[in-house]
Amino acid sequence: MKNIRVLTGITTSGKPHIGNLCGAILPAIKESKISGVDSFLFLADYHSLIKHKNPELTHLSSIEIAACWLACGLDVSTTTFYRQSDIPHIMELNWILSCVTEKGLLNRAHAYKSAVDKNSSKFPDKNISMGLYNYPLLMAADILMFDANIVPVGNDQIQHLEMTRDIAMKFNHYYGEIFSIPEARIDKDKGLLLGLDGQKMSKSYGNEISIFLDPEQLRKRVMKIKTNSLEPGQPKETEGCSIFNIYSSFASKEQIEDFRLQYGKGISWGNAKDSLFDLLESSLSQFRLEYKLLMKDKSFLERVLKDGASKALNISEGVITRVRQASGIRSFSD
Ligand code: TRP
Repeated sequence: MKNIRVLTGITTSGKPHIGNLCGAILPAIKESKISGVDSFLFLADYHSLIKHKNPELTHLSSIEIAACWLACGLDVSTTTFYRQSDIPHIMELNWILSCVTEKGLLNRAHAYKSAVDKNSSKFPDKNISMGLYNYPLLMAADILMFDANIVPVGNDQIQHLEMTRDIAMKFNHYYGEIFSIPEARIDKDKGLLLGLDGQKMSKSYGNEISIFLDPEQLRKRVMKIKTNSLEPGQPKETEGCSIFNIYSSFASKEQIEDFRLQYGKGISWGNAKDSLFDLLESSLSQFRLEYKLLMKDKSFLERVLKDGASKALNISEGVITRVRQASGIRSFSD
């Protein structure tokens, strides 16, 4: 039987936090090691140009994210790990797909619609770049370029996968069965981590804990977690408690049960935070060590990504040839 292709892209803007670690990074690394799965993981650096116009941020963030995945245990012998910008076929496919995509489809994209909603009705498209508008198209090119079967997504990306499927079917309708139709795998609440304020952990709320903080900074972040005014000795609720929630994502079953008992007995918030800090420090210290080493060796990172690109190009070359042939862009003498 053919292996299943699972593909994930990470936009290179900003540092990943422990919510990303538990919800996306570690599960994807685990899955990449399963036999029968071909995993494709890439840095969506062209997507980051949509989000901001800070070249240093795009550059540094690409390096940080590459180092992060490797530090957390990504094995490049079981994964195709590459930069989007190293695969020019993606840009070519982006154009070809744009010619079978109706403008009306992209008009309905949530990100575009919410940008329009923020503008006055007199100038609905003010400051909206074609990059933002075409975001779902580039994502479709990323996915169809590698005949991906499964794309793990969060809720915010479901619509993009639906659009990718529409675009692929449209292309197949005009030109024959060229693309496999990918499926979204919705990782609902998987590893959903609560942030310092009790809401979902997210960079946009500023309530996150970064993965590679030094112990002192890590302790400070943990101490910032909001708690209620229950005194030591008063039983505490585990449900909805950020300390308990984060602890559970890193602890063994036995540790979780023990922590639950302590909540029942009225552990003080100070002690609960100390336990969380100790657990995070022991879970993250090895990652931090690796990360620091990798961040010092940019030429190693560059080599890893170039090797990944050459594996990826082997596949994209075949797919783009198929696409060009089908759409009539081919040599006169074939
Ligand atoms: N849009 C995705 C995000 O922001 C990143 C991404 C780009 C992606 N291309 C992709 C994810 C292709 C999956 C498949 O999270």
